[in-house]
Amino acid sequence: MLILRKHFAMHRKWFATFLAGTAAAVFGYFFWAHQYSTRWPGGSSPPGLILGILGGAIIVFECLLWPRRMLRSWRWGSARLWMKAHIWFGLLTVPLILLHSGFVWGGWLSTILAALFAMVIASGIFGLVMQQILPRKMLTDTPLETIYSQIENAMRMAIADAQSLVLATCGLPKESAAASVQSQPIETPDDRNADRVVIGASRQVELIPGQLLRTPVPQVPVANSEVLRQKFVSTIQPFLEGGLRLKSPLKDRRSSAEFFRQLRAVLDPEAHPVLEAIEDCCEQRRQFDLQTRLHWWLHSWLWIHLPLSMALLVLMFVHAYVALKYW
Ligand code: HEM
Repeated sequence: MLILRKHFAMHRKWFATFLAGTAAAVFGYFFWAHQYSTRWPGGSSPPGLILGILGGAIIVFECLLWPRRMLRSWRWGSARLWMKAHIWFGLLTVPLILLHSGFVWGGWLSTILAALFAMVIASGIFGLVMQQILPRKMLTDTPLETIYSQIENAMRMAIADAQSLVLATCGLPKESAAASVQSQPIETPDDRNADRVVIGASRQVELIPGQLLRTPVPQVPVANSEVLRQKFVSTIQPFLEGGLRLKSPLKDRRSSAEFFRQLRAVLDPEAHPVLEAIEDCCEQRRQFDLQTRLHWWLHSWLWIHLPLSMALLVLMFVHAYVALKYW
């Protein structure tokens, strides 16, 4: 949440530095061009060379963010300060490098370098936008969010609980359904009471566990509830296991509500709390899948930004070596 409007005050000085740097570079470049040159000065002209060295030094600094993150012993300055410097100095390289180029592509090496540079900047801006939008979207759209690496574990426990509820509600399966439900191993969560089952994930904030939702388990099977078992085996359990990858009426919140409404209409009211708990499980699956998707968007862009940055760094030194050699 670095540059949301309410946080912009923290970036004001950095923004001013960016504007001042850009203004100084543009003024110096065009002043020199006006005084001493008949065409746009390139990388070998005095202003072009100075801007190239400054831009290159900033690119080296930008790449230091990676070792700073990887080396735990190397902790100069706060992560926030590094990030602000990374963003605004990174953006400052755009006018510096553009002026350094003299607005021409040059040979193949400088053209590749320019393309890499553009992709690094574009991916950085993309990542920054993702970092502004997605965490807020997660807070609003996935209130059941859990630790990312624990998603499948939490889901496995929820499925086991849902199976227990179906068994308690429908009784032991008859021959036809026995193969499908009985063959599934039913895990028993440690904290289950005899007459209640914990359903859904609970968040733990530091040492304070979140509220656990306990669903009353019917003490004797509910009459005429076989339809619940059938729907569980045919539609609900596959969705809880496969999630949004599958074609299922439960993928979408509205069609899922309709699915459970129809089921509720044919089930005895005694089975309704169980049905609600299972419906919550489906909501949990949808939210976990959305969380997985958002997590991917939040982190995958770094797989472009980081390797391209490293390629840019290496090629930049090759470019400087070749340019100085033939100067
Ligand atoms: C020449 C330009 C740039 C280079 C060489 C560069 C390089 C890097 C490197 C090496 C990392 C560290 C990756 C890691 O720790 O895994 C990084 C992260 C990042 N960069 Fe850049 N970058 C540049 C420009 C930009 C710009 C212009 C922006 C945004 C406006 C930006 C936004 C980011 C963000 C948001 C991160 C992730 C930081 C984090 O969450 O830890 N970068 N960049």
